[in-house]
Amino acid sequence: MEKADYRVHLCCGPTCTRFGPKELLTALEEEIEAQGLGGRVSIQLSACRNRCEQSPSLNVYPGPVFYNRLTPDGVRRIVRQHLTGGEPVAEFLFRPGLKPTVPPGSGPPRPAARPPERKRRWW
Ligand code: FES
Repeated sequence: MEKADYRVHLCCGPTCTRFGPKELLTALEEEIEAQGLGGRVSIQLSACRNRCEQSPSLNVYPGPVFYNRLTPDGVRRIVRQHLTGGEPVAEFLFRPGLKPTVPPGSGPPRPAARPPERKRRWW
C-alpha cells in the first residue's frame, strides 16, 4: 500500500461533535475525491485535540498544522489550498486568543489528571 502524503485527524471528541462531524467528514471526503487525492490523503477520526474552546478541530500531518472553527466550506478550502496546493488556510489556523466557539466550561467535565489517592491503612 502506498504511503499517504497527508494525514488528516478530524476531531470527534465530545465538544467538536456538537458541530456536526458528519457534515465535516462528508465535505472532507467529497473534496478529496473531487481533487483526485484519493490515495494520497488518509483520514482518521480522533479523540479530543485539546482545543475544545475553538471547536471544531482538525490536524493535518505532516506539520502538524492545527485548524479550528471549521465549517464544511472551510474543510473544502483546506483540501483545495493545503492538501492540493501545499498552502495552509490562514483563516482557520488555530489562534488561542480568538473568541471561543463554545462557552468556557460548558463541555463535558474532563477526567482528573490522576485518580485521587486512597489513604492506606496498615493494621
Ligand atoms: S473535543 Fe475536539 S478539541 Fe476537544
